[in-house]
Amino acid sequence: MHNTILWLHGFPLSSASFAPQRAIPAIHVMPDLPGFGSTPARAGMTIEDYARFALAELDHRGIDQVTLAGFSMGGYVAFAVARLAPERVRGLLLIDTRETPDSEDARRGRLEMIAKVGAEGVQVVADAMLPKMLTSGAPPDMTNRVREIMLSASPEGTITALGAMANRADSSSLLPTLTIPALVVVGEEDAITPPADAERMARLLPSARLVRIANASHMANYEQSEMFNRAVEEWMNRS
Ligand code: MLT
Repeated sequence: MHNTILWLHGFPLSSASFAPQRAIPAIHVMPDLPGFGSTPARAGMTIEDYARFALAELDHRGIDQVTLAGFSMGGYVAFAVARLAPERVRGLLLIDTRETPDSEDARRGRLEMIAKVGAEGVQVVADAMLPKMLTSGAPPDMTNRVREIMLSASPEGTITALGAMANRADSSSLLPTLTIPALVVVGEEDAITPPADAERMARLLPSARLVRIANASHMANYEQSEMFNRAVEEWMNRS
């Protein structure tokens, strides 16, 4: 029986950002969080609400325990899942994310972005974030596809997620309590959640391996999918 992996996507992306990970031999659960991809937005969600949504997806499929994989915002949601239902998490895969909350500056930036999305639409987020998602060496068709995925987010969902991320909890004290096997992966050129964040999380987790992916920025799983998938498979075979 294969391991089941629940993949939680980042902002403003969708499950499509995990398409290359379907090559990993496992059972994959890849929901679109509300407001992204094909799932309609729900107003006023918190990070814990996204976690409850993800748990309901597992209930719906009759899945008890999973390896939980969270990319960036999906990592924030993964921490909330681990807080709400630790018994359902048998392993943790943290991809280009961080356990710390927003700084005051970052929170202010989110509020400004909420106003801009309200006035101009989701392309302002795509314009601001796309250059930080992939390295400048990424093939143009990859960059175009990531932009397309971003533009599939709804304005309501984007605004809701910005508010949820701005108000997210500090998960620093959670990490030392997670004794399950963990893999922390980071793109060496990630400027949004840099390698220093990954190193700190790996130190806080009792049972973590850290893998750095060369020639990758924030979306390490997408930009260097073969290297990423190999790291995940090796980790799953050992843990
Ligand atoms: C993401 O990729 O999910 C976002 O960059 C996370 C964030 O803005 O904190």
